Amino acid sequence: MERFVDLIHKKKLGRELSGSEISYMVEGYCNGSIPDYQMSAMLMAICFTGMNDRELTALTLAMRDSGSVSDLSPIRGIKVDKHSTGGVGDKTTLIIGPVAAACGIPVAKMSGRGLGFTGGTIDKLESIPGLRTDLSAAEFFQAVHNAGICVNGQTDDLAPADKRIYALRDVTATVESIPLIAASIMSKKLAAGSDKILLDVTTGNGAFIKDYEQSLALARKMVAIGTNAGKQTVAQLTSMDEPLGFAIGNNLEVKEAIDALHGNGPDDLMRVCDTLAAHMISLGKEIPFKQAETEAKGAIKSGRAWEVFLSMVEQQGGDTSYMEHPEKLPAAPVTIEYRAKEDGYITSMDTEGFGVAAGLLGAGRSRKDDPIDFSAGIVLRHKINDLVQRGDVLATLHTSKKELAEAAAGLLDGCYGFSDRETEPVKLIGDVVR
Ligand code: URA
Repeated sequence: MERFVDLIHKKKLGRELSGSEISYMVEGYCNGSIPDYQMSAMLMAICFTGMNDRELTALTLAMRDSGSVSDLSPIRGIKVDKHSTGGVGDKTTLIIGPVAAACGIPVAKMSGRGLGFTGGTIDKLESIPGLRTDLSAAEFFQAVHNAGICVNGQTDDLAPADKRIYALRDVTATVESIPLIAASIMSKKLAAGSDKILLDVTTGNGAFIKDYEQSLALARKMVAIGTNAGKQTVAQLTSMDEPLGFAIGNNLEVKEAIDALHGNGPDDLMRVCDTLAAHMISLGKEIPFKQAETEAKGAIKSGRAWEVFLSMVEQQGGDTSYMEHPEKLPAAPVTIEYRAKEDGYITSMDTEGFGVAAGLLGAGRSRKDDPIDFSAGIVLRHKINDLVQRGDVLATLHTSKKELAEAAAGLLDGCYGFSDRETEPVKLIGDVVR
């Protein structure tokens, strides 16, 4: 075997690494024989010279196989997983998981926690009193059997190579690399064991990849990996040029998801949910997208998706009385109204800034093990192309301390753009890659 320094040199020159060289790299980094400084150099070389689809598939499979691969075969039917590349106010899993399950798609899903300025489904679920996301394999299967859906936390054994490599990328400025993001996400999706995969690839100023063409390139790479690994994979691009819905923050988003499941969700959230749920149902039932979309809408209208949601909460140990009466969920002790500083149409929102501000209020973590304040966050009153006057309330900030609200309000000052004319509406639903 070549020395690892030779492989770094090869990649630096933009040459293709073989499958065995890539396995050697992933295994060597996980067992400690390749040190951080050499792996950092390799990651930077990948950032600059990229990887072709053969290399990318080999990297993803080596990362998948660094831990255990879930066997979901005891669950009958076609299991369809869904993954978002991250966003602000993105509570879609809480809605489309129950919708898909209500339409007969078994949803046996592992989700993650918030990352950077983005929120995570597991944190949102844990904001429901009593609800557990650390179910054993037996409990997980039982919950899917009883409710048709279970959303559990990622086990430590899920693609551990990704955990190690991600932590190194985080401190070596190598997170924003399309092949590295694609391999990171797909290694976890393939290890989670579903039969088919739906990817919600977010794009815009509140996504990890902000440029549309780059997001499309990421979607194509992930679909190529899934397909090469034998799993039908569909990617839907969706916009993060403004927060999704009005609520940002864990309990606040659960409340908005409850409204959505009752058919009263904000328009943008419902459009994204209808589209994503339709993809899941179309994949799982092998029916045309339009027919699947009608089924998805029907599941909300009939109340079946709401019943499934309640059953999911119950199966995971959550107290459903809070879901029936969400006003009982603990409210933040401090709320302040954030007001417009000028007159005009809101023409831009710095979505990442809203995620950072929500984190500052207590809805996110700045370090891995920081506790989350489940009641903290932001509820928007206005979004892009709303006409407002100086002094109008733009958002309510929910937090535990007045100083945090003041700091977040300071951040929001830089997050809005105003004009005396409307702007192009946000194009919420983008391309589909199959
Ligand atoms: N999410 C992931 O899981 N990995 C990345 O690299 C980026 C976003």
